[in-house]
Amino acid sequence: MSVTAPPRPRMHEGTEVTVLSKTIVVGAGQMGIGIAHAFAVAGAPVVMVDIKDEALSKAKAAVTKIVDDGVRLGKVDAAVSARVAAGLSTSTDLVASAKGATLIVETASEALAVKLDIMRTVDAVLADEAIVATNTSALSITEIAAATKRPERVVGMHFFNPVHKMKLLEIIRGIATSDDTVARTQAIGAAIGKATIVVNEAPGFTTSRISALLGNEAMWMLSEGVATAEDIDTSLRLAFNHPMGPLELGDMTGWDTRLSVLHYLHQTLGEKFRPCPLIIKMVKAGRYGRKVGHGVYKYVDGQKVPGSGLRAF
Ligand SMILES: NC(=O)c1ccc[n+]([C@@H]2O[C@H](COP(=O)([O-])OP(=O)(O)OC[C@H]3O[C@@H](n4cnc5c(N)ncnc54)[C@H](O)[C@@H]3O)[C@@H](O)[C@H]2O)c1
Repeated sequence: MSVTAPPRPRMHEGTEVTVLSKTIVVGAGQMGIGIAHAFAVAGAPVVMVDIKDEALSKAKAAVTKIVDDGVRLGKVDAAVSARVAAGLSTSTDLVASAKGATLIVETASEALAVKLDIMRTVDAVLADEAIVATNTSALSITEIAAATKRPERVVGMHFFNPVHKMKLLEIIRGIATSDDTVARTQAIGAAIGKATIVVNEAPGFTTSRISALLGNEAMWMLSEGVATAEDIDTSLRLAFNHPMGPLELGDMTGWDTRLSVLHYLHQTLGEKFRPCPLIIKMVKAGRYGRKVGHGVYKYVDGQKVPGSGLRAF
């Protein structure tokens, strides 16, 4: 594994950005918003693509809000706001959008069938040299790449939520991913201000493998009545200096995504990843987390409601 330090953030007018050009972000959910923001702020023309118009309008407003908040706090030049507004567009037409793109970042829902379909669609219209990246949390890059005729230019680009605050970009190489693709992806990561690590494909890579286990165990403890949700989260924050507890993190990730990841890790890595039944119950109830305003905790205007932790026992 290699690690590169993050370069200085490129968020000021006049910055030369040479490795970034037309970028398509497929999937305008929580992660699509953050990824589109990262590329747009760095100066790339970005098209966000989703199957839902509503997701696209919310996503564009969310990107604008992140930029405007940055300007208000003095972290971002005001001119960046205008650049993002000019460079960011949205579409429900993936085929038309992908034409002429040099990079696709697939970040649609965590389901293999969805990702394979997107791969086949973009592969048919992209130039040979274009890179196709997937932000899957756990799935096989090799399997996703095999749906294309360019497996050497398919790579994992695993971002973290919220993308504008999290420094890491985990780059994952599938069996066929070329050295050139990895090097270009590292350069892209540097151009958007991320520190990169390169890992060989394994279910859940380095990050989701650990984080899924931690969140699953926290849910087992909650369902066994070991402690309240608040106290489980407080224990990890104060005993181990985690910036947030594992239940808060699951709410931020989305329990639907977390459950898909656990199913896959259970299937590929074995029994220790068997999803806690309480997660299955939460997903059946539609309590996906922050993105719907209700997970282990309730959220109003994006803020956690004190004392709202799930009583599961
Ligand atoms: N949430 C996290 O913390 C996190 C972190 C790293 C990686 N990821 C991965 O990022 C991806 C997206 O996660 P998210 O949290 O943004 O999910 P999300 O549920 O917030 O958004 C998913 C979006 O994908 C769209 N979509 C579904 N099918 C599509 C298709 N065929 N074409 C275009 N858009 C489509 C949906 O309409 C939705 O807007 C998943 O693969 C997830 O595993 C998530």
